Amino acid sequence: MNILVTGGAGYIGSHTAVELLNAGHKVVVVDDLSNAKYEVIDRIKEITGKKLDFYWIDCADKEKLWDVFRNQDIDAVIHFAGFKAVGESVRKPLQYYRNNLDSTLTLLEVMEEFDCKKLVFSSSATVYGPDNPHPYKEEMPAIQSSSPYGWTKVMIERILTDYCTAHPDFCAILLRYFNPIGAHESGLLGDDPNGIPNNLMPYIGRVAAGKLEKLTIFGGDYDTADGTCQRDYLHVVDLALGHLKALEYAAEHQGVEAINLGTGNGISVLELVTAFEKVNDMKLPYEIGPRRDGDLPAFWADAAKAKELLGWEATHTVDDMCRSSWLFARNASI
Ligand code: WQD
Repeated sequence: MNILVTGGAGYIGSHTAVELLNAGHKVVVVDDLSNAKYEVIDRIKEITGKKLDFYWIDCADKEKLWDVFRNQDIDAVIHFAGFKAVGESVRKPLQYYRNNLDSTLTLLEVMEEFDCKKLVFSSSATVYGPDNPHPYKEEMPAIQSSSPYGWTKVMIERILTDYCTAHPDFCAILLRYFNPIGAHESGLLGDDPNGIPNNLMPYIGRVAAGKLEKLTIFGGDYDTADGTCQRDYLHVVDLALGHLKALEYAAEHQGVEAINLGTGNGISVLELVTAFEKVNDMKLPYEIGPRRDGDLPAFWADAAKAKELLGWEATHTVDDMCRSSWLFARNASI
């Protein structure tokens, strides 16, 4: 199939583009490069040995997105494009609502004009909010979040659900990611955010590479085994492969489906730091600091639906995630 990947120069988008090309699909990437580097496109080509078409555009620019669909015969879309920093979204809510919602609404309008009826959307476990018990199941209420970033995901899931009601022959798969970490085995792709990383693993990578002094673990007094927060970390390549399975499912189905992509296991910050040190044979400088506003003590996925519906499950280990993260961080620091 001919797949449009919006935000395809980003962390998850680029890993997904690699797996799509490896599976024989034709890939077209649009990205505004607001939080990604063009060199990632060349690395995708280097890793796969395949061509791909890239357009440096903002998905909210209807005229330019329309031209992409006019020039490319798009069969399906995987929609990653969007701002995704939780803390920044609290400081800049208007930019987050404008960017994330406009790009999605514009994409849907252009897809309709070109009769493209298959969409896989990059959603997030954050839509489960603070009130659901874990492990999170897809049928639980996913109607609240703790940040404007998270609210854009809740709202886009609503938009896609309503669109599917109005267009029964459309298929939208809402993939709810847990915590993607790790990097491609080549060391050429990885999580490389602009500025100081908000997320745990890219921060660890920069400390390990000597680019940041030490890790602060946000909170050591939670009601968990070791007092630090627990999350469902999954390898970004497993996540990318989940998109391939979701695309194959969407090609044969109609309607809207929310699906968790997680391992079903929760591990703590301290456990991840310890695993990183062990597998990479290093000591990581860290201290336990105050809790971070908005953090939940623990959550992880009920991953049964992805296995039943898509035939997908995560296979990479925590050691794989830690080893590949360091491989990329070390390369990025050179
Ligand atoms: C994980 C754990 C922190 C940094 C967020 C978004 C979610 C998704 C993934 C986009 C927490 C702790 C972190 C640090 C730390 N993003 N931590 N020191 O908050 O679970 O999820 O990122 O889709 O939507 O909500 O991920 O990596 O920021 O934090 O101790 O320097 O690591 O407190 O317990 P989070 P995270």
